[in-house]
This record gives sequence, C-alpha cells and structure tokens, in this order.
Amino acid sequence: MRHDNDTALDIYLTGLRNAHALENEALSIMQPQISRLEHYPELLARLKEHVRETEAQIKRLETILKDFDEGSSTIKDVGGRIMGGLAALGHSMAGDEVLKNTLANYAFENYEIAAYKSLIALADATKQSAHVKLLEQSLGEEIAMASFIENHIEDTTLKFLRLSEAGRTAKV
Ligand SMILES: [Fe+2]
Repeated sequence: MRHDNDTALDIYLTGLRNAHALENEALSIMQPQISRLEHYPELLARLKEHVRETEAQIKRLETILKDFDEGSSTIKDVGGRIMGGLAALGHSMAGDEVLKNTLANYAFENYEIAAYKSLIALADATKQSAHVKLLEQSLGEEIAMASFIENHIEDTTLKFLRLSEAGRTAKV
C-alpha cells in the first residue's frame, strides 16, 4: 500500500510498530503484578481482564501491520523500552509496590490512550477506515482501564494503609 502519501504512511507505520512494542511492554509489566495481588481481588480481576484485552490489542495491531507486509519476525525485533522507567516499578519488590504499580499503571494507560489517539489520526489521514475501527476498539479499552485505575486510587491506597497497620500490629 504505497502511493502518493508515503510520508504519512511512514509516520503511521512507525507509530504502529511503537504501539506494538508498547503493548508487549504492557503485558510484561502487568503479568508479574498478577501473581502478587492476593489482597486486592478487584484489582486482580481487572488486571487479568486487561491482560486478555491487551493480547487482543496486539493481535489487532498485527492485523493492521499485515497491510504493510510486516511479517511477525520484523515486528518482534522492534522491542525497546518505551516506558522503561515506569515498567521497572512492576518488577520491584518494595513494600508499597501496589501503590507504585497503581501510579505506574495509570500513567501507562494514559500513554496508551495518547498513542491510540495519534494512530487513529494517522489512520484517518491515510484513509484506512478499517484500521480506524480496530484502533478505536483498543482506545475504548484503554480509556475504560485508565478510568478503573483512577477510580480505585484512593481505595487501593487506604486498603494498603489498613494492611500495613494490621501487619505492624501483628508484629508487636
Ligand atoms: Fe492498556
């Protein structure tokens, strides 16, 4: 699909590859969190659901990338740590891990929202209306996840506080 608007297509393609790397990174920061959230069942359930959504988002991006003749081997090589600093928090074993992860997850979801909005603008500019539909589906999921996290920031913090107080009492 090369024609007169090559510049737009190149920028769009770069954005798609970056989003693909970003979603893979999202998986790698969510998966370790899942094994350590036993005291936060609601958070755990939502995170598990979003892992499944993220896997579908990756497939959607791969469907779109196929229109550019991008084989999966090319896609895999992109890698890179777009949100490296925040992702590292997902692997930390600090006592306040759940709080750090909540903040990092919220930042990450908002980064993804921005990425999809930008991709939708590029898909639109390059007249890829089928892509717009797929990208809008992923955008909707990211917005829902960001708002879930946002709505649980206070609850998660207070739950962490209660558990920390209970833990301290138990030790005395
Ligand atoms: Fe996401």
